[in-house]
Amino acid sequence: MASEVSYPLQLSSVSESHASLYEESLKHPEQFWGDLASRRLRWTKKFDQVMDCDMRTGQFKWFLGGVINVSVNCLDRHVEENADKPAFIWEKDEPGTHEVISYGQLLESTCRIANVLKREGVKKGDRVAIYMPASPLLAATMLACARIGAIHSVVFAGFSAESLMNRINDASASVVVTADEAVRGGKTIPLKSIVDEAVGGCQCVQRVLVSRRTGAHVPMTPRDLQLEQAMSEVSDSCAPEPLDSEDPLFMLYTSGSTGKPKGILHTQAGYLLYASITQQYVFDYRPGDVYACVADIGWITGHSYVVYGPLCNGATTVLFETHPTYPDPGRYWEMVQRLKVTHFYTAPTAIRMLIRKGDEWVKKYDRSSLRILGCVGEPLNKEAWKWYNTVVGEERCTIVDTYWQTETGGITIAPRPAADDSQPKPGFPSLPFFGILPQLRSENDEVITESNVQGHLCITKPWPGMARTIYGNHQNFMDVYYNPHPGVYFTGDGALRDENGLYRITGRVDDIIMSKGHRIGTAELECAMNTEPRVAETAVVGYPHEIYGEGIYAFVILKDGVVASVETIAEDLKTIVRKKIASFALPNQFLIVPGLPKTRSGKIMRRILRKIAADRHEELGDVSTLADPSVVEKIVQEHNLLK
Ligand code: WTA
Repeated sequence: MASEVSYPLQLSSVSESHASLYEESLKHPEQFWGDLASRRLRWTKKFDQVMDCDMRTGQFKWFLGGVINVSVNCLDRHVEENADKPAFIWEKDEPGTHEVISYGQLLESTCRIANVLKREGVKKGDRVAIYMPASPLLAATMLACARIGAIHSVVFAGFSAESLMNRINDASASVVVTADEAVRGGKTIPLKSIVDEAVGGCQCVQRVLVSRRTGAHVPMTPRDLQLEQAMSEVSDSCAPEPLDSEDPLFMLYTSGSTGKPKGILHTQAGYLLYASITQQYVFDYRPGDVYACVADIGWITGHSYVVYGPLCNGATTVLFETHPTYPDPGRYWEMVQRLKVTHFYTAPTAIRMLIRKGDEWVKKYDRSSLRILGCVGEPLNKEAWKWYNTVVGEERCTIVDTYWQTETGGITIAPRPAADDSQPKPGFPSLPFFGILPQLRSENDEVITESNVQGHLCITKPWPGMARTIYGNHQNFMDVYYNPHPGVYFTGDGALRDENGLYRITGRVDDIIMSKGHRIGTAELECAMNTEPRVAETAVVGYPHEIYGEGIYAFVILKDGVVASVETIAEDLKTIVRKKIASFALPNQFLIVPGLPKTRSGKIMRRILRKIAADRHEELGDVSTLADPSVVEKIVQEHNLLK
């Protein structure tokens, strides 16, 4: 087979046409990925087989028999070449300040943390929860886990104590790593005391390691250890654990359409290869570039494009600790000027917020270093695309709208700026990446072949970065991703394909709301709000929101006999959501209603609520199958009064 194609693939040049490489990746996946994995990764023992995957049973194995260590790939091999090369530029919360951390320094702190973890009894396969602000120490903690084969579970430091507790317990983590406080937009967040509250409900936690960010005095218990102190007591070298390609690397919790968040599990070699190749090829990353993905490390974007992808490629990557409007809406662009950023990667919601603040905040700063402008998280509407392209990019840069998910490990659909056959089209993430074969299916599982017809976005072939399971619940993994459309991966998103084969994402087709770039499960939010004693039931839906993409609309039914204003109920429900989930999940609108549109079997017809919330009452359609059709009219009346 190899003789039919020109091997080895010339992937050292990013400017080849996308179509030829793409075709090759689908035709000969074993050779394609095997070749890349051999050449791009350092192996302790080379793999014997490229893949063994079955989309019907959900068993996925890549690079079988291979022995590898991710931290060696991200650190040691670059240190051997040049220990002084900047790995991170830490853009700190304090305006105008940054710190540069070299590969050598990062390796040293990684080894020290690894040795601390080992001293505390952490072994291969143990889970370590991380609840820290964006900092080099957070990345070093992740890499330290990778060094010794522990599985990290980073929890975004905006989640409440209760959310953190649930995630620690689900993973049965023995160690939690945190900081005294986080600082964001000049305000401090008491991380250590949130951890204390969370860990109070966790039997599994033996040790809490507390790093210093602000230096605030925080009460310590015998369970706690000061991280920097412990690091100074151990050796600065740590032999990397030889790990199987399919040993778990990390889990990351994400909201689903049912109940509680699920721990999406990624493994070593396949994930690393996919994160690194997408970082290079989608962004046309070249040596010497300054790559700034401003996502928080607490989300998958930060895992793949702040930490693993860029570090595997030996890149210089920016760690953004602050807020886009702190101290003013010029923060991103002042940073671009100061750090000579070449790649800037953010979320559409941030772009839309900045549009409102006025062009002068952008134009004030020199952005001539910028070459590629990326975004991820929700559809990038045409207006935002245009602003990003003309105002920020001065029509000189390339916009890469990247579509992917926690579950996909890395970017799956995006333009390839360096390829001569890839022209970005506003509103379209456009082209599937190497190895990704999308397919649109109707609700009845028919394959959609026509252009410009919306369907469920599925992926029909395995790729190295794909999630392997939901931690501790493979059945749920199958039910959510592989059973809805048997034999293919179901993304949960709707999409269409234009006549040129370019893809556009139309939004979630399940009960997940994408608000401000965050993924919020309606079931989780409703379960939380239903604990308010005066509330009988709630239903939340997304509605179009100018800045957030989707706003969150909560319909609330009070218990019989309860009289309360919507304002007081809304305040109480917000307090509950803050406590049980996080402030980013707060609904934007509340409406007290006498009932919900339900089918005779008791299922809430969210389609109807979505239309009402979006002010599209004329499109409600047939409501006669509802248990009580009159409730719809009543809800519409209440909604109209609210406006
Ligand atoms: C949405 C983020 C439209 C989508 C990396 C997906 C997008 C969810 C895009 C995953 C895009 C992501 N255009 N929608 N370019 N990128 N999404 O797991 O609904 O936090 O399923 O991963 O974000 O969110 P997650």
